[in-house]
Amino acid sequence: MNFAGILARAEAGADLTVPELAVLLAPPDPGSAAALTAAAHRVKTAVCGDYVNLRGLIEFSNFCNRDCFYCGIRKSMPAVRRYRMSADEIVHAATLAGEYGYGSVVLQSGERDDPEFTGFLTGVLRRIAALPYRLGITLSCGEQTLDTYLRWREAGATRYLLRIESSNPALFARIHPANWRWEDRAAALARLREADYQVGTGVMIGLPGQTTADLAADVKFFQRIDADMIGMGPYLPQDDTPLGRQCPDAPGAAAARLELALRMISVTRLLLRDVNIAAATALQAISPADGRERGILAGANVIMPNVGDPAYRRSYQLYNGKPNLDENAAALRAGLLANLAAVGARPRFNAPGDPPHYAARTGKP
Ligand code: 5AD
Repeated sequence: MNFAGILARAEAGADLTVPELAVLLAPPDPGSAAALTAAAHRVKTAVCGDYVNLRGLIEFSNFCNRDCFYCGIRKSMPAVRRYRMSADEIVHAATLAGEYGYGSVVLQSGERDDPEFTGFLTGVLRRIAALPYRLGITLSCGEQTLDTYLRWREAGATRYLLRIESSNPALFARIHPANWRWEDRAAALARLREADYQVGTGVMIGLPGQTTADLAADVKFFQRIDADMIGMGPYLPQDDTPLGRQCPDAPGAAAARLELALRMISVTRLLLRDVNIAAATALQAISPADGRERGILAGANVIMPNVGDPAYRRSYQLYNGKPNLDENAAALRAGLLANLAAVGARPRFNAPGDPPHYAARTGKP
């Protein structure tokens, strides 16, 4: 199959097969790789606008009931200092996001489903929804019951990120404890749809044993569940986790994963067109100077600068090399704006930045 021919059809909006997507994920030469990036950037600009949407990221707690083999805040990590931001601290961070003109916030935490946690978050959501900024509110708090998803939706959350991690159930099983089933994850995504969220999902890119065909199938999975938002980034080994110990990185592996992750962004943009795609922090972990900015040039249209207190940042390290461990929200904002200007990308301020796909599929504005 011919790379240039497939790319031209993709840019024109053709529905590609898994083998065709796999061809695009492995460009035969640097010129083809550059053409992929440029095509994805054109489609993003035409369909979603030429700006970058901003979300203030609040990592509000690292208590977690899950034991994912790759994650630095998994339940059985002994060395992690567990924390929970107070409601006032979370609302303060959201206020900062509003003052900065970010237009939206993402509240992310480890996974808990006890009533104390779900009730606490409901109260926090009400307070953020009552702030005078009309903030879009995204949650990223794992698998919950339909009842919990509905309560949080009613309290003001409008979006939810729940990565499928891999659309391949066998690969999913290798990186999670046996009691955690792929089917449960997929069912949780369906519940989010039922509860009328803008639904985001995504995968880790470059997992041990993951193939290009797996990644191509991941993109088809995003399409099949009709996702509104995609958040995906390179897998990064975490030294103290089972997967990190088992498969340490060879020299050059991280750099190769960055390139693969950028190609995933481009291919996802070409197939899904009108969804929001985040340039994940993990891109920045591999290339601090320009990882996220390259994500924007490759077809992403969302960046999530941290607005939390740096006092907690070291305790929320999902992987080695988390960037900006000590910088406060103001410093991060200044750095991001300078970086975006350097690549000619335009941030959009004071807008919630809903994915066009949600309006298209629901008829809601
Ligand atoms: N490398 C990259 N991403 C990771 N995540 C967790 N651990 C890692 C890691 N070691 C991602 C997962 C999860 C999200 C919050 O962080 O995809 O869904």
